[in-house]
Amino acid sequence: MVPKFLLIGFILFNFLGYIRAGVTSSFIRSEWPSVDIPLDSDVFAIPSGYNAPEQVHITQGDYDGKAVIVIWVTPVEPGSNQVKYGKTEKKYDFTAQGTVKNYTFYNYTSGYIHECHINDLEYDTKYFYEIGEGESARSFWFQTPPKIDPNASYKFGIIGDLGQTYNSLSTLEHYIQSGAQTVLHVGDLSYADRYQYDVMGVRWDSYGRFVEKIQAYQPWIWTAGNHEIEYMPYMNEVVPFKQYLYRYPTPYAASESSNPLWYAVRRASAHIIALSSYSPFVKYTPQYQWLEAEFKKVDRKKTPWLIVIMHAPIYNSNSAHYMEGESLRAAFESWFVKYKVDVIFAGHVHAYERSYRISNIHYNITSGVSYPVPDKSAPVYITVGDGGNQEGLASRFNDPQPDYSAFREASYGHSTLEIMNKTHAFYHWNRNDDGKKVETDSFVLQNQYWNKSIRRRKLKKNYLHSTVPTRQLDNV
Ligand SMILES: [Fe+2]
Repeated sequence: MVPKFLLIGFILFNFLGYIRAGVTSSFIRSEWPSVDIPLDSDVFAIPSGYNAPEQVHITQGDYDGKAVIVIWVTPVEPGSNQVKYGKTEKKYDFTAQGTVKNYTFYNYTSGYIHECHINDLEYDTKYFYEIGEGESARSFWFQTPPKIDPNASYKFGIIGDLGQTYNSLSTLEHYIQSGAQTVLHVGDLSYADRYQYDVMGVRWDSYGRFVEKIQAYQPWIWTAGNHEIEYMPYMNEVVPFKQYLYRYPTPYAASESSNPLWYAVRRASAHIIALSSYSPFVKYTPQYQWLEAEFKKVDRKKTPWLIVIMHAPIYNSNSAHYMEGESLRAAFESWFVKYKVDVIFAGHVHAYERSYRISNIHYNITSGVSYPVPDKSAPVYITVGDGGNQEGLASRFNDPQPDYSAFREASYGHSTLEIMNKTHAFYHWNRNDDGKKVETDSFVLQNQYWNKSIRRRKLKKNYLHSTVPTRQLDNV
C-alpha cells in the first residue's frame, strides 16, 4: 500500500514536470570537421559529355501541385531549353520550352541557367524527363503529389542550413533513407558567401551538383536565409539575393505574391507558406499585405495542414541568434495563433529545438506580460538549422532551459513530417549519429483545425444522444 502523501507527491511531481520538463540533450557526438568538401571530390563531379546539363533541380511550379519547374545549368553554351517528358521511361510524349539566362558576380560569369515550367501534369503520377542534347542528354524522374484532398497522406522532409561539408553529405544520405517525398528547405543553402570574389559563384555551382542526386528527383520548396543575401559592397555587388534568385525560382505568382522570396503552395493535404526573414515584413509592406491575404485563402477543409517555413526562428533558446526573430514575431505571431498554424519550421541556429504550443501575443509595451504562455491555438515551433554547414554546431544553449522549450540538442540532422490523414501526422527529428540515422525526438502532431472540430462535433453528438464522451488524445 503506497502512503497517500507519497502518491500525491508523485502526481504533483509529474504534473509540474509536464509543464516544465523541457529536455536539453546531453548527447555529444564526434562530428566531422566543419569544412567544405574539396572541389575535386566525386560529390561535385561534373557530368560527362560536351555542355552536359548539370545542377539539375526541381520545385513545385503552381499553387496546387500540377506543375513543376525544372532548373539546370549548361556550362559552355546555352544549348537546348527543352524538357522532354512522359509517363514511360525513355518514351517522351511531351515537350516543354524553357528560358535561359546567366549573370555575373564580380568577375565570375555563371553558366547558362535554364528554367522550364511543365504544366498540366496528372496527380499522383511518375514522370520521366530528359534534358540536354545528343550524347550529353541526361534523364531523371519525379512523382507528382496526390490531388488536393484533406485526407491525402504525404511525407515531407525538413532541412536547414545545409552547406556542402561532410556533415551536409551525411544529412543528405540520411534524408534519402527517410522515404520523404518533398523537402521544405528553411534557408541557407550553399554557404558560398563564406568565400570571396569569384569562388562564391564556383561554390554555388558545386552546391548545385552536390544536391542534384536528390533535387533532380523531387521538388524542394525553398526559402531564403541570410547566407543568400550576399550584399557585398567591396565587390560592388549590392543586389540582395542575386545569385539565389537566378538559381532558385519559386512559383510566387501562383499565390499572387509580388516577390519570389515569399509565396505559398498547396501540396496533398498541406498549405505551405514560405516567408522571407530578410525582406521587409512590418505593417503595410508587400510581404505583410500578401501574408494577410494568403491566410484568408487557407481552406482547412481542403488542406487541413497549415505549415509555415522561414529562416530565423521566433522561439530559440540557443545563445546563437537569440532574439533575432523577435521583430517578425511581433509582426506575425497573432496571425499564427488566429489561423491556428500547425507547425512553423525555421533554421539559422545550427542545432535542433522544439517548443511547446506557446504564444506571446498578449505582450505589448504596456502590458508587462513579456513571457510566452501555453496556448493551444499556437503553433509548435521547430528549429532545424542543423543540416551541417561549415560554420559548425551552435552548442551553447541558454541555461536554464526556458519553459517554452520542449527539447533541444546540438547535433546535425533533419526532420520528417509524415501526414497520415486530416487529424494526425508523425513527426521525427533524426540525428546524424556518425554515419547512422537515429530517431531522437518524435511525437504525434494533431491537426489544429480538425481535432477541435471533432471535439466540438463529438460534444454536440454526446449532448444530443447522451452518450459517453470519447476521450481525446492530446499529445501536442
Ligand atoms: Fe542563417
